Amino acid sequence: MDMLEALRLQLEWGVDEALLDAPQDRRVSAPAPPTPLPAAPPAPRPAAKAPAPMPAGPAEAARLAATCQSLDELREAMDSFTGCALRDTATQLVFADGADDARLVIIGEAPGAEEDRAGRPFVGAAGQLLDRMLGSIGLDRTKIRIINTVPWRPPGNRNPTEAEIALCLPFLHRQITLIHPAALVTLGAIATKALLPEQGASGIRRLRGTWREAHITGLDAPLPCLPSYHPAYLLRTPMAKSESWLDLLQLRERLELMIFTKS
Ligand code: URA
Repeated sequence: MDMLEALRLQLEWGVDEALLDAPQDRRVSAPAPPTPLPAAPPAPRPAAKAPAPMPAGPAEAARLAATCQSLDELREAMDSFTGCALRDTATQLVFADGADDARLVIIGEAPGAEEDRAGRPFVGAAGQLLDRMLGSIGLDRTKIRIINTVPWRPPGNRNPTEAEIALCLPFLHRQITLIHPAALVTLGAIATKALLPEQGASGIRRLRGTWREAHITGLDAPLPCLPSYHPAYLLRTPMAKSESWLDLLQLRERLELMIFTKS
């Protein structure tokens, strides 16, 4: 297999990050450890070092998120949050796109490679389809807010783990609270499960197309939330577009109602 073919194969397998400077052939067993030297007399114990800081967990994320009184503060807090390992492999934080005072917030899953480079959610192929879908009901990014469940790209575009989602959830809730929209749309199973945990293991196919209630930390009343298919799924499964169109019509109806009732 030539070098180019080998690289292509790696890409297909999701290898798109270099973790070490020098390549390591893991098929070759590691060299035997050096023979231990005869034991030296015990050295005097060094003074006890201060314990390393504990990794920040969801409680720390929740505490930090709650202190943020504006979207700018929230962006800064998330940018300096070191508790989520995804931050170490991502290029940058992908905070959000769209209006700070949007009436509608659309929640995706996690940034992909293009979003990671651009620092904006949904700029790749799925994002272009999302733009067209929004355009078909008279919406664009200036009128709505787009956020991801997880704001850093998982390496190789894998799904974020439950632990990563739990870590990032307080930031997502805080952003929704600060915007205080009238409605939410979740795209795909991951965002839907994160915002509608009481729906249990129900799949996106069962949940999509019906307005549900999302309980957001910091808001007194639940927000209406419409789960729908993720545009990346629609790109792979064009047959599902007709169902998504029904969801968009429902969304348009709700938005028209919101204009008249100012809910
Ligand atoms: N898919 C998502 O869920 N979010 C993005 O930002 C891009 C692709």
